[in-house]
Amino acid sequence: MQETTRRTLLKALTSLPIVGGAVALQHVILRYFKPTMAGGLKAMAADPDSAGSSEQEIADVSELTQPWEFKEFIYIRKSVEYSSRKFQGAKIPAFIVRLPEEYIADKKDPKAAYVVVQRICPHLGCTFNFIPNSEELAGGYNYKAPAPFHPYFACPCHLSVYDPTRPQVIAGTVAGKAFDKLPGKVVSGPAPRPPRTMSFDIRGSKIYITDTEGGGVG
Ligand code: FES
Repeated sequence: MQETTRRTLLKALTSLPIVGGAVALQHVILRYFKPTMAGGLKAMAADPDSAGSSEQEIADVSELTQPWEFKEFIYIRKSVEYSSRKFQGAKIPAFIVRLPEEYIADKKDPKAAYVVVQRICPHLGCTFNFIPNSEELAGGYNYKAPAPFHPYFACPCHLSVYDPTRPQVIAGTVAGKAFDKLPGKVVSGPAPRPPRTMSFDIRGSKIYITDTEGGGVG
């Protein structure tokens, strides 16, 4: 009886490395088919990975009450990456600008008072500026704006100039919603389209970016 117990115990002990090896091998095989394996076996049956952007607070409405007040901010756009971090973040410089009353198309929509754009120039990817005076725009960016003057976005690299008060027809989607025109019509220079747009929400007194148009330069 005692002999039988010892034999059973020995058998169990010798089979341990085999069981351990099988578990480890299963892990290697699973990682081959699904490298991140986040979520275990369930992840293998999940929908394909897609880039995701998380919501980010960028301003309080009290910071942008006067016409042409603006704020620079950095938006972190996240996308899936097969590494231990599981995502990579692209830092996108951007502007939010408060429009004067005369340029607000829908006075009942609180969001219509703002223009929110990426600062990455759609021509070749330089970071463009907000130019609030006509002399700087004419001398530094070779654009003589019509009267009455208002601020423009302008790129120092090849002098593209964008008008934040005028839309330009261009189709696309952001955060799953289709658009057919964007603010920031190109009024001078080689840029092929207006700046990339961002979707945003206003909740309480806070302004949040919810997503941004994808893509690289023009
Ligand atoms: S990169 Fe801006 S105009 Fe060329």
